[in-house]
Amino acid sequence: MQVQIDVEIAGLKLRNPTILASGILGMTAECLMEIARAGAGALTTKSIGLEPREGYRNPTVIQVECGVLNAVGLPNPGIQRFTEEIRRLRYLEVPLIVSVYGFSSEEYAKVAKIAAEAGADAIELNLSCPHVKGSGAEIGKDPRMVGLVVERVKKAVDCPVFAKLTPNVADIREIAEAAASAGADAITAINTVRAMAIDIETCRPILANKIGGLSGGAIKPIALRCVYEIYEAVDIPVIGCGGVRTWRDAVEFMLAGASAVQIGSAIAYEGLSIFKRIVNGIEDYLVRKKFRNVREIIGLAHKE
Ligand SMILES: Cc1cc2nc3c(=O)[nH]c(=O)nc-3n(C[C@H](O)[C@H](O)[C@H](O)COP(=O)(O)O)c2cc1C
Repeated sequence: MQVQIDVEIAGLKLRNPTILASGILGMTAECLMEIARAGAGALTTKSIGLEPREGYRNPTVIQVECGVLNAVGLPNPGIQRFTEEIRRLRYLEVPLIVSVYGFSSEEYAKVAKIAAEAGADAIELNLSCPHVKGSGAEIGKDPRMVGLVVERVKKAVDCPVFAKLTPNVADIREIAEAAASAGADAITAINTVRAMAIDIETCRPILANKIGGLSGGAIKPIALRCVYEIYEAVDIPVIGCGGVRTWRDAVEFMLAGASAVQIGSAIAYEGLSIFKRIVNGIEDYLVRKKFRNVREIIGLAHKE
């Protein structure tokens, strides 16, 4: 039996529901092209700001129980330089989502406009980096600010705008509702969870920034709960992100309400073949459960 696994998010057509998450190998055109060849349905770039940023000193990424802890500090070449990479991706076979961050709503809008004019198929607003002061971290916790950023960016660009939310809030539904009312075309949930690790020999925090963000398998149940709650709160598509390692994880996210899933940390352990493995697993699942189209399973866990 043939099954359909293409999905559509705010007009973007994805050949399958897997997307490269922001910050993982998304800095150069070559890398992004290779990930498209490896089978991803869409690609998200590293978050890009108005000015170049060096990021924090090492250690910035460490492995912890069931996950990865990072505080890289949004290193990026700045949007002017990055437009060269976006232009080189003109003939990419899958949609290119450019992730942007800013320190004010004006800055988000400026960066998004430049990215969209260079050829981004969609903009993802990083409203959620948990360890860079003043960037999306604080903005992403305030529904009013989230609304303002979305509104400004929507006015500045013609392509779809996705709001990527932080789980580090009391009620993520409130933030999702603010983004949706301001015109966001989809919600990405979630970014990393604030966390830390301490070296018991030196008696000091391990990350140079002390606090960082936890990703990987450890956060999957948190991300899943966020997707489930957001799906009930808003009428726009939700993109699941956080701890997806296998096709089972992807199916779980889709049943919770995700139209697609982003894959980040797991690439470090599994390599780029993870995209095809997950897509093949979803196809086998659909056949076994007698679904004809992957869209049939989106949000199924909400049915009474
Ligand atoms: C090293 C590293 C860098 C990241 N950089 C970004 C970034 O620039 N922008 C962003 O929105 N998310 C960033 N993230 C968060 C991921 O996109 C994703 O939301 C998070 O890691 C959860 O997914 P995962 O468990 O599949 O990794 C980064 C994550 C890691 C591990």
